[in-house]
Amino acid sequence: MATLTFLGIESSCDDSAAAVVRHGPDGAPKVLASVVQGQVALHADFGGVVPEIAARAHAERLDHCVEQALAEAGVTLADLDGIAVTSGPGLIGGVLSGVMLAKGLAAGSGKPLLGVNHLAGHALTPRLTDGLPFPYLMLLVSGGHCQFLIADGVDRFHRIGGTIDDAPGEAFDKTAKLLGLPQPGGPAVEREAAQGDPARFAFPRPLLDRPGCDLSFSGLKTALLRARDALVAEQGGITVQDRRDLCAGFQAAVADVLAEKTRRALLAYLALNPAAPALAVAGGVAANAAIRAGLETVSAQQGVRFLAPPLRLCTDNAAMIAWAGIERFRAGLGGDADLVARPRWPL
Ligand code: KG4
Ligand code: ZN
Repeated sequence: MATLTFLGIESSCDDSAAAVVRHGPDGAPKVLASVVQGQVALHADFGGVVPEIAARAHAERLDHCVEQALAEAGVTLADLDGIAVTSGPGLIGGVLSGVMLAKGLAAGSGKPLLGVNHLAGHALTPRLTDGLPFPYLMLLVSGGHCQFLIADGVDRFHRIGGTIDDAPGEAFDKTAKLLGLPQPGGPAVEREAAQGDPARFAFPRPLLDRPGCDLSFSGLKTALLRARDALVAEQGGITVQDRRDLCAGFQAAVADVLAEKTRRALLAYLALNPAAPALAVAGGVAANAAIRAGLETVSAQQGVRFLAPPLRLCTDNAAMIAWAGIERFRAGLGGDADLVARPRWPL
């Protein structure tokens, strides 16, 4: 097995990222550099990611990210064995910025160009960080995604459930906005929840009454809005403690739902794959301690190994894209000369 060094480029949402990953025959893959430039401040006034602003920022920043990643890794384009770029799914303007830059770099350097599905990048991360063998169950929980995947191979993912409306990170972000907390909402809500009473407000546990692994989070957001408005009507506003209790109740509901649906997904997965079971998570919401604890508990109850990559590789980054490129190249899936950007691209 030859040593491979890949550049990865990611620009599908609001992070401009470039990374260099190397994988040799003797040992674990190494992230030689991983540069991520977030855009939270650019979108802060709008309460969500504005596609046009994101696309322009990616176009302005991506080449600097690439230069910095190559410099930090101590390599030049000539040292690379390939260039991998997120070619979907995501905000099309951003994806196009990355794809065009990658095409230019590949054409200029004569290196192979590989298109990577952003979700596959997340789903293959536990192999980069822990060398996890296939198959394993993956829970992807971020601001844009929420799904259970059985990862069976580099290009073989089987979806066994997911959200039917919002992603949990989106619900955290909207909750923060409704309560006047800063973005991204997840960490802010978690901080407030730490000092709140999760039992004071009765939040629903959506879809637990229905079989299967599908999830729903939009009702939780509505419940929070109602509870807040009731407090405002009653007392003319909400107190610091009201806010903490609302956050605690909301977070407990999300954690409960994710834990129970994960338990069901594990049972479905174990029925198909009884040997060497493992659950891996990815996505920013996996940073939440209460949610992570719930997932750890259900994994332990089923005798399943639980894996959560370090946060910088759990959230959007380009190392996962470079790694997915290496995996695809090794599997003979490389060489996308006619690569196109795809806004929608289910795994
Ligand atoms: O994976 P990610 O960086 O980007 C994508 O959405 O693809 O995830 C960001 C999301 C945001 O919605 C953010 O609020 C949420 O992850 N998040 C959290 C926490 N940290 C980040 N949600 C709950 N608790 C946290 N501690
Ligand atoms: Zn992502």
